[in-house]
Amino acid sequence: MWTSNDIPDLTGKIAIVTGANTGIGYEVAKALYQKGAIVTISARDMEKAVSAAERIKKESGKAGGLEIGLLNLASLDDVKTFADQFSEGHHRLDILVNNAGVMIPPPSRTNDGFELQFGVNFIGHFALTAHLLPLLNAADAARVVTLSSGAATLAPGIDFGNLKLENTYDSWREYAVSKLADILFTYELDRRLKAGQSKVLSVAAHPGVTRTDLQRHIGSDVLEGLFAQFDTVMEAWQGALPTLFAATDSSIRGGEFIGPDGPNEYAGYPTLSKHSSPSMTDQALAQELWDYAETATGMKFDF
Ligand SMILES: NC(=O)c1ccc[n+]([C@@H]2O[C@H](COP(=O)([O-])OP(=O)(O)OC[C@H]3O[C@@H](n4cnc5c(N)ncnc54)[C@H](OP(=O)(O)O)[C@@H]3O)[C@@H](O)[C@H]2O)c1
Repeated sequence: MWTSNDIPDLTGKIAIVTGANTGIGYEVAKALYQKGAIVTISARDMEKAVSAAERIKKESGKAGGLEIGLLNLASLDDVKTFADQFSEGHHRLDILVNNAGVMIPPPSRTNDGFELQFGVNFIGHFALTAHLLPLLNAADAARVVTLSSGAATLAPGIDFGNLKLENTYDSWREYAVSKLADILFTYELDRRLKAGQSKVLSVAAHPGVTRTDLQRHIGSDVLEGLFAQFDTVMEAWQGALPTLFAATDSSIRGGEFIGPDGPNEYAGYPTLSKHSSPSMTDQALAQELWDYAETATGMKFDF
C-alpha cells in the first residue's frame, strides 16, 4: 500500500499544481512541499491562493518552498500571462499537475467561448502545458500529470460540433467528455514526447470518489444519496494519492493511468488503472482532438 510516506525526497524540485487552493490539488501541493519541492500554488483567486499557502505552511512547518500564481483556466489570455510570469522566474519545471476542474455547472462558456468543463478541464490545461513545455524539457526527467476520471469511460466520443455549446447541454455528458479529453491528451502527449525523444513523462491519474468542492453543483440531499451508494467516499488526502504516485514514484512510465486499487476503483491506494473504453484508446480521435486544440488555442507544442 503506497502512501505519501513513500514519496521520495523532492528537495529542489520545482512543481506547479493547478487548482491548489482546495480539494485534491491542495493535498497534492502540501505533500510535494512537505517532501522539499518548491511548489507554485496556482488558483483563480489570489486570496484563495495566499490563504492555501498559509494553511500549508501552518500544517507542515518548514519544508520546501511555496509560491503563488494567479491562473484562471477559463481564459487563454490568463493562461499565457501565468505561464509567461512563471517562465520569467524559473528555468525549468519538474512536475506539472493539471488538476483544476469543474463538474456539472449550469450551462456556461469560458472567455474564449468553450463549454466551461471542456474549456477549463481540458483546453486551459492543453494551452498551459504547451506554454510550459520548454521548461519541462529543461528538467532532468519532468512529469506532466493530468487528472482524468472514471467518468471518462462514460463518454461515447467527442462531438466536435458542440464544444462551444452550439447544440444541447447535458452537464454530466459534458463532464465525461472533458475527462475523456484529458485522458486522450495524456496518451497523445506521451506518444508525441516519445517520438520527439523527450525525457518528459505524460501520465494520467484519477482519484476515485473523493469528497471535495467538486460536488458543489449537486444539491446536498442528492449528494448524500449519491455518496450513500459507495462503501467508502475518500477524503481529499487519500484521493490525492494516485496523483502523488503518478507525479513522484520511480516506477511510473509515460502513458500510464493511475487510480485507486479498490473495487471499481472507487477508493483505495494507488495502482495502475484498468479504466478503459474504445474512445479512450482511439488514437485517431486523440489526433483529431489534438489538431482541434492546437487550432482553437493557437498553441503548437515545440517537441
Ligand atoms: N473529487 C472526486 O471524486 C473526483 C473524481 C474524479 C476526478 N476528479 C478530478 O480531480 C480534480 C480535482 O478536483 P477536486 O475533487 O479536488 O475538486 P475541487 O475541490 O472543486 O477543486 C477544483 C479546483 O479547480 C479550481 N478551478 C475551477 N475552475 C477553475 C478555473 N476556471 N481556473 C482555475 N482553477 C479552477 C477550483 O478553484 P475554486 O476553488 O476557485 O473553484 C479548485 O481549486 C478535477 O480535475 C476533477 O475532475 C475528482
